[in-house]
Amino acid sequence: MSASGITWKNLSTLILAVSATAFAIAQAPADDDAIFPMPAGKIYVNECGSCHTAFAPGLLPARSWRKMMGDLGSHFGEDASLDEPQHLAIQKDLEVLAADGTQANMRIRRINGAIPAGAAPQRISETGYFKYMHDEVPKHIWQRKKIGTPGNCIACHTRANEGRYGEREVRIPQ
Ligand code: HEC
Ligand code: HEC
Repeated sequence: MSASGITWKNLSTLILAVSATAFAIAQAPADDDAIFPMPAGKIYVNECGSCHTAFAPGLLPARSWRKMMGDLGSHFGEDASLDEPQHLAIQKDLEVLAADGTQANMRIRRINGAIPAGAAPQRISETGYFKYMHDEVPKHIWQRKKIGTPGNCIACHTRANEGRYGEREVRIPQ
């Protein structure tokens, strides 16, 4: 107890409230621009972006990534195996930045909320959030040669490998 009537508990609640507000404000622009955090360094983009978009970890929960990383030898019909050190580094990054990770912002938490707790989806393009976000893109567009598959994010989201999915950076190929 202090003489001024401000207890330590009061004070720390106040500090928490202030920093939570600052945190919410700091998150707001990123949220509006649909920017997802990406693993630092180049390993992730080099290894997991060599055959397709380097998908932002926040698009799937940790259990999905763990399952996928546990079977890279038969990854959608391809061998995507990694050396032990790279495997460990990538798995750690995926789990830290996953949709159910502790750093998840509002948008990422919504993505997580739309995935049933018992499910570990392997395709981002089959999640509820993906379908919801793309329900206005007509069918014939998905069938264009330069797109090929809905999982080909970078065909339309030109900066997807940086985790950027904002509206202004969408270019639908002809
Ligand atoms: C040797 C090529 C190759 C490498 C390397 C590779 N993948 Fe894939 N991945 C594929 C193929 C092929 C598909 C299926 C594409 C399709 O049918 O849409 C796929 C699909 C995926 C999907 C589902 C996409 C969707 O439809 O939503 C995810 C997620 C994914 N890969 C993550 C990873 C991660 C993480 C790594 C690195 C550990 C990785 N991939 C490395 C070939 C690869
Ligand atoms: C055929 C082109 C196309 C492909 C391929 C595509 N998208 Fe999109 N995406 C769009 C369009 C168009 C929108 C709606 C524009 C908007 O409102 O941002 C959109 C919206 C989004 C948004 C919401 C952006 C916002 O501003 O709220 C996210 C996130 C997103 N896409 C992620 C993905 C991911 C992840 C993939 C790959 C697994 C993908 N998209 C594949 C065209 C595409």
